Amino acid sequence: MERHGRDANAAATPRPALALAEAEAGNDPYCAITNAPPDRPFVIAQLGQSLDGRIATLSGESRWINKDAALDHLHRLRALVDAVVVGVGTVAADDPMLNVRRVPGRHPARVIIDPSGRTPPGARCLDAGDGVRRVIVTTPEAEVTCPGVECVRVARGENGAMEPARIVAALAATGFKRVLVEGGASTVSQFMDAGVIDRLHVLVAPVILGSGKPGLGLAPIARLADARRPRTRVYVLADGDVLFDCDLRT
Ligand SMILES: NC(=O)c1ccc[n+]([C@@H]2O[C@H](COP(=O)([O-])OP(=O)(O)OC[C@H]3O[C@@H](n4cnc5c(N)ncnc54)[C@H](OP(=O)(O)O)[C@@H]3O)[C@@H](O)[C@H]2O)c1
Repeated sequence: MERHGRDANAAATPRPALALAEAEAGNDPYCAITNAPPDRPFVIAQLGQSLDGRIATLSGESRWINKDAALDHLHRLRALVDAVVVGVGTVAADDPMLNVRRVPGRHPARVIIDPSGRTPPGARCLDAGDGVRRVIVTTPEAEVTCPGVECVRVARGENGAMEPARIVAALAATGFKRVLVEGGASTVSQFMDAGVIDRLHVLVAPVILGSGKPGLGLAPIARLADARRPRTRVYVLADGDVLFDCDLRT
């Protein structure tokens, strides 16, 4: 694991409103996105969690495990991708807006993975006010009745879910090559198990919930030797949260 920064004793703090040119030139947590290969999709995923690995309380409350700097970072990620993707469980629990409000930058398209068409028509991320594309990824048979929202249809695979690799390919075909999978745990975990995530940002807050919804839940491994140990950079954010920037292609 690499601790990032000029001073070996002080980890670097990513500035939330980093200009695009600086991100392209520098060695920061945004380079992987701005330098993403143009000839294939690039997928970054994020999870904000407590010290004990929870992304929400048992009642589903997840605001605000992380503090301002981590939220700024999340909005910066949003501003750098073509589309932000969430599972319908997150829409039902949090009704997020999924836009860029905390930093300068453009709003990404908003994508909900919703195989059964249960997204509430009034979901805030489907609001057309900022003019971005809004997409529901669903199955060929599902009925989706959200006016003005595009549908991308992906057949269910053998396990009953839509294969993440097919979702990524379908989104790329519709113009979204750089994608941020923002949650929840089930969606990020499926994408990680399928090997389609290039970069994982885990934002750990120094708070202990002691119970609640776990973050990643991957296919079980039998031996420690089988655990993933991606090349990771660590950034201590200004208000104490810690960003683990994991390169899942290593
Ligand atoms: N701390 C954080 O960073 C963070 C971020 C986001 C959300 N959250 C929290 O996470 C919780 C929600 O997470 P969650 O894991 O329950 O739900 P989720 O990942 O948001 O959504 C899961 C649902 O999305 C659909 N889905 C996702 N991928 C699919 C695929 N490949 N094929 C078919 N369907 C797919 C399924 O819908 P169906 O159920 O209809 O089949 C699935 O049950 C909430 O409590 C929220 O507050 C935390």
